[in-house]
Amino acid sequence: MPSKTEAIAALRAHASTGAPNDMRAAFASDEGRFAAHHAVLDDMLLDWSKCRVNTETLGLLEALAAASKVEERRDRMFAGERINATEDRAVLHTALRNRSGEAVTVDGSDVMSDVNAVLAAMADFSHGIRAGTLTGSNGGAITDVVNIGIGGSDLGPAMAVLALAPYHDGPGCHFVSNVDGAHIADTLDGLDPATTLFIVASKTFTTIETMTNAKTARSWVVNALGEAAVSSHFCAVSTALDKVDAFGIPEDRIFGFWDWVGGRYSLWSAIGLPLMLAIGPEKFGDFLSGGYAMDRHFREAPTRENLPMMLGLIGYWHRAICDYPSRAVIPYDQRLARLPVYLQQLDMESNGKGVTVTGEPVDGVSGPVVWGEPGTNGQHAFFQLIHQGTDIIPVEFLVAANSHEPGLRHHHDLLLANCFAQSAALMAGRTLEEAKAQMASKGVDGRAIDEIAPHRVFSGNRPSLTLVYDKLDPFTLGRIIALYEHRVFVEAQLYGINAFDQWGVELGKELATALLPVVETGEGASERDGSTAALVAHARSLSGK
Ligand code: F6P
Repeated sequence: MPSKTEAIAALRAHASTGAPNDMRAAFASDEGRFAAHHAVLDDMLLDWSKCRVNTETLGLLEALAAASKVEERRDRMFAGERINATEDRAVLHTALRNRSGEAVTVDGSDVMSDVNAVLAAMADFSHGIRAGTLTGSNGGAITDVVNIGIGGSDLGPAMAVLALAPYHDGPGCHFVSNVDGAHIADTLDGLDPATTLFIVASKTFTTIETMTNAKTARSWVVNALGEAAVSSHFCAVSTALDKVDAFGIPEDRIFGFWDWVGGRYSLWSAIGLPLMLAIGPEKFGDFLSGGYAMDRHFREAPTRENLPMMLGLIGYWHRAICDYPSRAVIPYDQRLARLPVYLQQLDMESNGKGVTVTGEPVDGVSGPVVWGEPGTNGQHAFFQLIHQGTDIIPVEFLVAANSHEPGLRHHHDLLLANCFAQSAALMAGRTLEEAKAQMASKGVDGRAIDEIAPHRVFSGNRPSLTLVYDKLDPFTLGRIIALYEHRVFVEAQLYGINAFDQWGVELGKELATALLPVVETGEGASERDGSTAALVAHARSLSGK
C-alpha cells in the first residue's frame, strides 16, 4: 500500500495525465460511465459521473483513503474513542440516533440510557405543549415557540423546521440568533407573551448573543406577565446544567446533552427540540432513523457503493488535487433554502483548519468555501459565473423525485428538468461551432455571428454531483444530514485535520468582549490599532456619544 504522501503524489500526476478532460468524449466512448460512477442507497442515488474522474481516479482515491486510515478512524469515532484530541473528547453524535438497541460506550459507560432518557423527556414535553396540557402562565395553549441560540444551536433546527414544513402540526417555530436587536424585535413583534414559549439553546450557556437575547426575552415575558411566568414560558437546552439553573428555568424544563456532541453536530440531540415540537416525537424519531440508516451504510458499504465515502473522496479530489477553492450546494427544493448555510457551519467550522491533528501546518489546502442557494433561483443570480466564469466551481445538486404538492406536478417536473439541465450544460458546454450554427439557424447575419458567438460559448467540463431521492420526508432529511456529516469526516481524515474543534472562532470573541467597554465609553480607544480606534470613534460620534 502506498504511503499517504505517495498516494497524493499519484493523484496529482494522474490529474494532469490520466483523468478525463473532455467529458463529452468520456460519455461518448464509455456506455458504462454512469454505471461506474454512481452509488445507491435504497431510493437515494449519488451521481458523480459528470466529474472529471475515471475508474483509475477512483482507485487512486481509494488508495489515499486507505493510507489515511479513514475506515479505521471512522470505527474509532463510532466506538466512542476520544478522537477530538485538542478538546480531549469523544465524538458521538451518532449515538444520538443509534436505533440498534446496542450500547455505545464512552470511557467504559454506556451513554444510551442518558440519550434515551432525554429523548423521552423531550417527547413528554412536546406532547404536553402540542396537546395544550402544558400551557402558558395564564392557562392558554402555547401557539408559538421561539428558539434562542446561534451557530449549531440555531442553524440545524432552523434548517430542519423549514425543510419539513409539510409535516408541521405543532406550534409555529421562530428562530432568534443574531445579537442585532433587530432580530429579536422583529421576531417578537406580533407574538403574544401569554402564548409564547422560549427555548434557550446553548451548549455552553455562555454565548454572548444567546445570553443577551435570552435576557431580553425574559424581560419581555416578565413585563407582560410577571416574574412567576418565567417558569411556564422558558425551557433550555444545554450541557451546562448549573448555568441554566441560575437563569431560573425549572429542572423539568432543562434538556441536557453532552460534551461529546459538537455544536454543529447537535441537531439530533435536545437541540432538535423545536423540530420535535413542530412535527411531533414520532416523526422526529423518523428523522433520527434516517440518520441511523446513513450511519449503517457508512460503516458497512464498500467504498465505491458508499455515499459519504464517495462524496468525501470526490470533494477532496476537487479541493486538494484540482485546487478548486469553493463548492456550491444547490438544493432544487425551496424548503432546503437553509441547507447551504447549515452546511457552511458543518463543513467550514469543521474543516477550515490550518494545522494537522498533530499541530503541523497543513501541507497544501484544507476545506473549501461552501455556499449556495436553492435552484432554480440561483440560475438567475450566480450561475453565469459557474457556467462561464474563470474559476471552476464544483456544484452539488440535490433534488427529490416527488414533491409534497401533487396538484402542482408540472412545477415539480419543471424543477427536475432545470436541475438535470444545469448539470448537463455544465458538463457538455457549447462549442464555438455549435454557437455559430445555432445563431445561423435562427437567421442571424454572418457579421453578428462572428461578433457574438464567442460570448455564447460554454467551455463545459465543469464538474457537478447530483443527489436524487424520492421525497424530502423526515427520514430522508436525516439521511441527507448524516451523509454530509460523514463526508466532512472523510475529507478531514484526508486533510489530516481535527474536524471537531473550532479554535478559530475564539480570537474574534475575545476581542469583541474587550471592545465592548471601548464602544460603550470610548475609554481605551487609543490603545487599539488606528483603524479600530477610528471606526469606534466614528460610530460613537454618529450615535451621539
Ligand atoms: O462560535 C462558534 C460556536 O462555538 C459554535 O461552534 C457553536 O455551535 C456556537 O458557537 C454556539 O455555541 P453554544 O451552543 O455554546 O451557544
